[in-house]
Amino acid sequence: MDSLIIEGPAKLSGTVTVSGSKNTTLPLLFASLLFDKEIQFENVPRLWDVETTLKLLETMGSEFSWNKDLGRVSILPRVRVKVAPYEWVRRMRAGILALGPLLAKYGEARVSLPGGCAIGARPVNYHLEAMKRLGVGIEVEEGYIKAQIRGELIGCDISFPQVTVTGTENILILALSARGTTRISNAAREPEVVRLGEMLRDCGAHISGLGTSTIEVQGGELRPPAKPILIPSDRIEAATWIAASVATRCPLTIDHTDNSALGSVIQAYRALGAKIEGNARGTSLFVEPRNSYASIEIETAPYPGFPTDMQAQILTNACLAHGTSKIRETIFENRFMHVAELRRLGAKVSVRRNVATVEGPTKLVGAPLMATDLRASACLVLGGLSAYGQTKVSRIYHLDRGYQRLDEKLRHLGAKIQRGQE
Ligand code: EPU
Repeated sequence: MDSLIIEGPAKLSGTVTVSGSKNTTLPLLFASLLFDKEIQFENVPRLWDVETTLKLLETMGSEFSWNKDLGRVSILPRVRVKVAPYEWVRRMRAGILALGPLLAKYGEARVSLPGGCAIGARPVNYHLEAMKRLGVGIEVEEGYIKAQIRGELIGCDISFPQVTVTGTENILILALSARGTTRISNAAREPEVVRLGEMLRDCGAHISGLGTSTIEVQGGELRPPAKPILIPSDRIEAATWIAASVATRCPLTIDHTDNSALGSVIQAYRALGAKIEGNARGTSLFVEPRNSYASIEIETAPYPGFPTDMQAQILTNACLAHGTSKIRETIFENRFMHVAELRRLGAKVSVRRNVATVEGPTKLVGAPLMATDLRASACLVLGGLSAYGQTKVSRIYHLDRGYQRLDEKLRHLGAKIQRGQE
């Protein structure tokens, strides 16, 4: 298993380029199952989750080629087996995104129940309830969701009890195969959902309300995409680079960003003590940390609120701030696993229910750490960049699931960071 060894405190300088968005790539790759022709994708990030998705599509019968250097993927969608096996879904919960496209195109699917993970129970009941309302027959047996459309699906009103990103994506796709209009209330407004909807619209789908909490989808035929599908830049990676600038107190230029998707993050980091400016086109950020940081109060929320996927990173930054910071996690019930590891660096953090209280400023000191999930891994790397001395972060395969070559990019910026094997 790989680990990262970091000598801190790191000095960074220069420009870093953000890769393609993981959480946009995954639903778009699964959506290729809706078509019969070869589909091209550009700016695909080199990530384990992308590899897992492509392999999963391959086990179903599709063929793919992936030029990792150019970020180009080509998929020839074919489905011999309409099954997403446990072996793959346990590695990547986003495997549940196979369910909507398989049902929409083939009327049946068997997808492994994902099970819990390090950040929470993460059930998929909202996906299944919404599918049942549209008319899908669903049984859960032997750890699998067995779904079948008998007759036809009829468009209806679906109101999610809680905002769900992949749930909205699955229903957006499935509703295309229903007769009439489906109205999704309390829909996710995340840019990743908008991009999926835009791609489907380019293929002839009638979808309105993207980016709002009510999306309307009209059932109808799709044609294959006429041109390669471009993956936008990863907003969480961009935000993590803001966090890296703050963690090291070094100015950074972050290129290939979508600044319009970073509003709540920029606001939070300005409050903490970073000067952040964007270029006129909204595709680049310049971050200049101030000498001392102020404590913050953050609450994670669905988009456009502060993303749960940045909670761990900003919590690490808050350790350097003067006073008491409060960070409330409202999306996942168990997303503070990184706190125990950060304490090993000397962080003064306590957790009560869903609120972490951080006392600062703390001089962090390097220590061996264990990563538990993707964003937690990023926060431990940030901790190592801030800390004095050597930090070793083990189990960084989590990091490779969602950040394209983070250690290489950091080395390029001047950090002393090495990959080791254990
Ligand atoms: N929920 C249910 N039942 C459901 C669906 C969701 O109770 O059927 C709950 C979840 O347990 C959670 C909340 O609703 O408490 C929101 O979960 P959501 O469904 O939105 O999460 P997701 O779609 O599984 C996506 C991202 C996550 C990101 C969340 C929240 C992808 C592939 N994953 O997950 O990304 O944290 O939305 O924004 O898009 C990551 O990239 O590190 C990551 C975990």
